[in-house]
Amino acid sequence: MRQDDPVRYDERRQTWDVFRYEEVDRVLRDHETFSSDLTTADIQPPRVGDDDSGFRTMLRADPPDHGRLREFVNERFQPGTIRQNRARIEELTVKQLDQLEDERRIDVVSDLADPLPVSVIAELLGIPTDRREQFKEWSDALVTPDAEDTEQAHETQRQDAWTEMQTYFSELIDERENGGGDDLITLAATARELDREETIGFCILLLIAGNVTTTNLITNAVWCFEEHDVTERVRSGEIDRTQAIEEVLRYRSPVQMVRRVATEDVKLGGRRITAGERVTPWIGSANRDPTMFDAPEAFRPERQPNPHLAFGRGIHYCLGAPLARIEADVALGELLDRFSTIEPDLTDRTPRPTFHGLTALPCAVG
Ligand code: HEM
Repeated sequence: MRQDDPVRYDERRQTWDVFRYEEVDRVLRDHETFSSDLTTADIQPPRVGDDDSGFRTMLRADPPDHGRLREFVNERFQPGTIRQNRARIEELTVKQLDQLEDERRIDVVSDLADPLPVSVIAELLGIPTDRREQFKEWSDALVTPDAEDTEQAHETQRQDAWTEMQTYFSELIDERENGGGDDLITLAATARELDREETIGFCILLLIAGNVTTTNLITNAVWCFEEHDVTERVRSGEIDRTQAIEEVLRYRSPVQMVRRVATEDVKLGGRRITAGERVTPWIGSANRDPTMFDAPEAFRPERQPNPHLAFGRGIHYCLGAPLARIEADVALGELLDRFSTIEPDLTDRTPRPTFHGLTALPCAVG
């Protein structure tokens, strides 16, 4: 595809698929020609979990709105600031693993990779502990399969989740409008730049954007390390863990594609895209482009440099990237410290819908 048809129109999905690194990078950087505001498309895309809030969020905004919706929170997610949460993320990880009932078997997904990101983001937002289960259910209800034919089945469930979340966050925002706390809901509730709907949209976006993605990163790391027989070398420190995680991000990118709309007629990879048409840059494909990565089909945990696009590029570059990296590093560090053997059972792999990952990863541990 990358070689023969690097930019091609998919009639069924009514979008231009973009496969090569060069063009994916260009689309992500050029936010003037490729808008993130999908409502400007001639054909409305199927609704998916990441962008159908109906609220304007930074993810679906172009400048100048984008800056307004992102700048107030940028500082909180800078690597230096987010690092201050590391000790707490370690505590949450240990607590999670201490709850294991069977010391010899774990499911990496349900025992750690699923609950950890939701606990972390809930804590940053300042959500009371007793509502975190509910929080996870809402988040799961919104992140549904990406295919049009399965949309119907999830619609009611999703609508209910939206309504409940709006009511829930609205009440919390009311309570925090006078400030005082240093949680993210207070930050958004007191930000003069945002109106009420945008404040709710911000809370919901943070909940959705950081959960399944980070879950998949942690799971994919355990999966890749086992599949490529590098677990012991990562454990011993012979391979740098953070570098190995970067290779997991490239090799099994949790977010495989993003969405844009052309704002003007534009030539891309030899094809003519018309204003108003939808464009789908495939991050997962760009990350395996041989013109950019030597032996891209090989998992090389020491690969350097590794300019993967797993967190996007340009103005929409993932706000939570520093947080996701710490969570993955802490989770893997704790798993490797605690268990001297981790043997994933890779025989029955059920892919997750929409994002790249697994629904379960049972492991024999010792
Ligand atoms: C944006 C991936 C974790 C919050 C993005 C984008 C990608 C991405 C590819 C760009 C979307 C686009 O250009 O349209 C990932 C991956 C993650 C992860 C692979 C985990 C491994 C997180 C976490 C949070 C988060 C933990 C929050 C706590 C966001 C937000 C945006 C975003 C708010 C929108 C930024 C903007 O539009 O300016 N993410 N993400 N993400 N991500 Fe992440």
